[in-house]
Amino acid sequence: MPRTVILGTGHYLPERVVTNDELAKRMDTSDEWIQQRTGIRTRRMVDWDTAPMGSSDLAKLAAEKALADAGVSKDEIDLIVYATLSPDKVFPGDGVLVQAKLDVPAGVPALDVRNQCSGFLYGLGVADAFIRSGSYKRVLLIGSEVHSSGLDFTDAGRDVSVLFGDGAAAVVLGPGPDTGKGVLSVHLHADGRYAEELQVAQPSSAAYPRLTAEKYANERDAFFPHMNGRNVFKHASTRMPEVVMEALDKNGVKPSDLALFIPHQANLRISEMVQRRLELRDDQVFNNIMHYGNTTAASIPLALDEARKAGRIKAGDLVCLAAFGSGFTWGAALIRF
Ligand code: ACO
Repeated sequence: MPRTVILGTGHYLPERVVTNDELAKRMDTSDEWIQQRTGIRTRRMVDWDTAPMGSSDLAKLAAEKALADAGVSKDEIDLIVYATLSPDKVFPGDGVLVQAKLDVPAGVPALDVRNQCSGFLYGLGVADAFIRSGSYKRVLLIGSEVHSSGLDFTDAGRDVSVLFGDGAAAVVLGPGPDTGKGVLSVHLHADGRYAEELQVAQPSSAAYPRLTAEKYANERDAFFPHMNGRNVFKHASTRMPEVVMEALDKNGVKPSDLALFIPHQANLRISEMVQRRLELRDDQVFNNIMHYGNTTAASIPLALDEARKAGRIKAGDLVCLAAFGSGFTWGAALIRF
């Protein structure tokens, strides 16, 4: 059976840099509070005045870079897997939108994944299974988010709005010989009993009528993300080390064998706690949340692309990816480069 290998990576970030001080002009927050609680200094956001873009626009630009890096043409892609919580439309999904924008041939399937911060790993799990079974040979896996059009930038939304940033990243995957290199295993989990701990509740198919001006006026809060931050923090800092150990045990390796650990970038404090629990050295962990905030489905492939291009991942290195997010969902993947 072939193993899934990463043929190329790429990312795209909007040029507009939004500082904590800029957010503090719009809501009751401060650079000090945000940095102390989250480690975030800046994030990128679409410039809505000069260059409005949707998630699939960012995705297209990231995918083009990943394809160029892989030396794979759009005509060779035989499956698109697209993870996002901020699609351009309620339906159809962004997978088909990016297919059209990239001019990937008609007939190529496009699958949408909705697992929020774990979306990239869920997508990797699906792509890996398809590649190993021989169903597809060139899979374009994308994580892309435009959060800035859906956040509440008033005081009521300040606990959530300071965390997120816009961005997209992509990887091109294909089969390689089973010589110990490539995706070694992917481990996915969920617990829907915590669905309401981090959600956007409206518009909902469980409410009739789904959307009215009155409803929007009276239930405004429900149209924005809500989070029980402390509970998310507690579960994230427990589940991530747990699933990393599951991946390491499955492959008979230890945390000290990791060349690099790339945690989902939700909060620097969560990453630091996970690092401590796994007893990893600073040089074994890659964080870039300081610059980009939480880019959700894009965060792991964005960090992976930056780490690769900064020379932090070399041939033969063992790399672990792990995520936790809304759902709750969580997962990990172990990859030998
Ligand atoms: N600026 C200033 N003050 C704030 C802000 C803000 N932006 N947000 C909240 N506060 C205030 C609160 O109102 C509260 O004030 P009070 O004590 O007067 O009531 C105080 O700060 C402390 O609030 P807490 O919510 O207890 O702060 P906490 O230390 O828990 O930090 C945070 C909040 C950063 C959100 C943290 O809980 C966290 O990171 N949680 C996890 C986030 C995460 O991982 N999300 C998952 C991924 S997202 C996804 O899956 C889509």
